[in-house]
Amino acid sequence: MKYNKEPFYQSIGQEIDIFERCYANRLPLLLKGPTGTGKSRFVEYMAYRLNKDLITITCHDETSSTDLIGRYILKGNETSWIDGPLTMAARSGAIIYLDEMAEARPDILVAIHSLTDFRRNIFIDKLGIEIQAHEDFMMVASFNPGYQKSMKELKPSTRQRFVALSFQYPSADLETKIIQTETGIQSPMAMKLVNISNKIRNLHELGLMETVSTRLIVDAAKLIHSGMNPSLAAKVAMLEPLTDELETIQTLEDLVNLAL
Ligand SMILES: Nc1ncnc2c1ncn2[C@@H]1O[C@H](COP(=O)(O)OP(=O)(O)O)[C@@H](O)[C@H]1O
Ligand SMILES: [Mg+2]
Repeated sequence: MKYNKEPFYQSIGQEIDIFERCYANRLPLLLKGPTGTGKSRFVEYMAYRLNKDLITITCHDETSSTDLIGRYILKGNETSWIDGPLTMAARSGAIIYLDEMAEARPDILVAIHSLTDFRRNIFIDKLGIEIQAHEDFMMVASFNPGYQKSMKELKPSTRQRFVALSFQYPSADLETKIIQTETGIQSPMAMKLVNISNKIRNLHELGLMETVSTRLIVDAAKLIHSGMNPSLAAKVAMLEPLTDELETIQTLEDLVNLAL
């Protein structure tokens, strides 16, 4: 899809310049980082900035190369070929965003191989043809390293096909600005929520799989902005999504209530 309106994206470092240079050189880009740190928003923003179509695939256990490349479908008693999103993007010169690439089945790696190097082509085995990618085509993928530790990893042979960029939680000032712009909440409350989140992020001893992301703070701020009691909003939007351990939630609730 094409964005008519500029998506709000707060730049954190040099990521905009890096993306633009990757695009100029037609290099594939891998965005690494925890969930909710603005990776998807960044790609949307860059698609808008470069005036390009963006095709996003959210990869999961069942995502296979067929889903990306295309398949024959039966229409009446005739079969016709339907391009998958990757083929569509390669033909039309869009940006393809493979969100959570490591989640997909390994056979997609074979499918993207020749698109990520100098060949820039894709072989459609069911049609027996090779398609040369449009000169404006670009591949972007995301990967959550912490989360994957116990699950799926990206093989070095795949990682090394991409220029890679790390996403982290923004500084308190920038994150406060993001929360305010996204939700319309007042600055003192946005600051409090960000400070609480940074405290929780530093509590490594809780052993949380994932910690409070910018996304969760945005959700809490929206609830507060619409009139919900701040403690309750923080609890349901920022704490409950993190864990099911009642004791941990109680500890974090105390921390929240002290800070609000
Ligand atoms: N740098 C940023 N600029 C603007 N919004 C951001 C930024 N980082 C996070 N957000 C907010 O957090 C939400 C989650 O970000 P998202 O891009 O979906 O994260 P990811 O793709 O890394 O999981 C966004 O919808 C937006 O409200
Ligand atoms: Mg995302």
